Amino acid sequence: MSPSLQSIMGAGALAAFEAPGPVPSGLPAAAYTSDAFFALENERIFTACWVLAGFAHELPRSGDAVPASVAGRPVLLLRDKDGEVRAFHNVCRHRCLKLVDRPGNVGRVLRCPYHSWTYGLDGALRAAPWFGGRDPRLSPPGFDRRSHGLAPVRSAVWHDWIFVNLDGTAPPFEDFVAPLARRVAGLDLMRMHHLVTLDFGEVAANWKLLIENFIEPYHVQFVHATTADQPLPDHYTVNEPGCLGCAIDVSRKAGKEDVLSGDSRFLTLFPNFVFGLYLPDQVGVHLDTPLSPGRTLQRRAIYSLAPEAPPTGRVERLAELWRAVHREDHAMCERLQQGRASDVAIAGGALSPVWEDAVRGFQELVVSRLRQSEPK
Ligand code: FES
Ligand SMILES: [Fe+2]
Repeated sequence: MSPSLQSIMGAGALAAFEAPGPVPSGLPAAAYTSDAFFALENERIFTACWVLAGFAHELPRSGDAVPASVAGRPVLLLRDKDGEVRAFHNVCRHRCLKLVDRPGNVGRVLRCPYHSWTYGLDGALRAAPWFGGRDPRLSPPGFDRRSHGLAPVRSAVWHDWIFVNLDGTAPPFEDFVAPLARRVAGLDLMRMHHLVTLDFGEVAANWKLLIENFIEPYHVQFVHATTADQPLPDHYTVNEPGCLGCAIDVSRKAGKEDVLSGDSRFLTLFPNFVFGLYLPDQVGVHLDTPLSPGRTLQRRAIYSLAPEAPPTGRVERLAELWRAVHREDHAMCERLQQGRASDVAIAGGALSPVWEDAVRGFQELVVSRLRQSEPK
């Protein structure tokens, strides 16, 4: 049985986090450093929620296959012959080899490299050669191919974003996405097209620190002093059921070129969908993949809503700006992670009730999801 939330975090630290007060504490350090806490998150959050797993534009053709990692499990995203994106457990049903280990096109069937078991793009097992003996077509008595197809994973695609729910218990996808969809209802996301993806590789920080950093505006004026021109007083936070984040409506005309300076929305769906809207016509989505308590993979896909093609050099300048912004954020998130090795961090620090209430909302969601599944 997994250890209890209380035993991992320490009864005192958990009680202090949950104690009401005018200035709330943050999550105790163990939530960011403990292997046991990370394992609980995988069991109770990343298997049970809708989780962003990939980008549909990276599988444009039938047979395109992209491996993903969700809750530490290998997952396969596959474009079938009818053009639909499907998700499966990325595991051969023979000896459980990880089937696809890099993005590519598998053609009309997916063949395991070990003993050549072969699957259709619908996941059905088409052939298990020589499995029953010296005749390649022979199956052992009692072996039913129909029950040895790839194991499907519940999935949904919203615009370019592929979500999966490993245990099948998450609410209907439309309900999950509705709070964010409502907030961007005035935009024609159907017009959106992909410009560029930035791959940051591994960031030496817990996945929650990357999300928390995205949904508080407090640091922007200090950390992004040269890459952003978004004064703190123009910001407000978004802390509603199902959608956490912050936003800015700038009260004056932007003064600087090629810095973040317009009206923006920084919104998340729990646990890992991170959506940035930079009005009038830019969208950025992060794919954060937790690897361990202190390591997270991060990529950022950038899209345009403008009908016309971007002018020459614009995409490269945008990419450069976003690389700089992420570098600034990563430097802080990595130091937040390092700070959590200190005994001082056991108490979780303090959160601004004005600017970090969405951070607090996010942390409460983490704790409540972990508690919900606690054995009584
Ligand atoms: S493990 Fe896949 S065919 Fe043997
Ligand atoms: Fe930032």
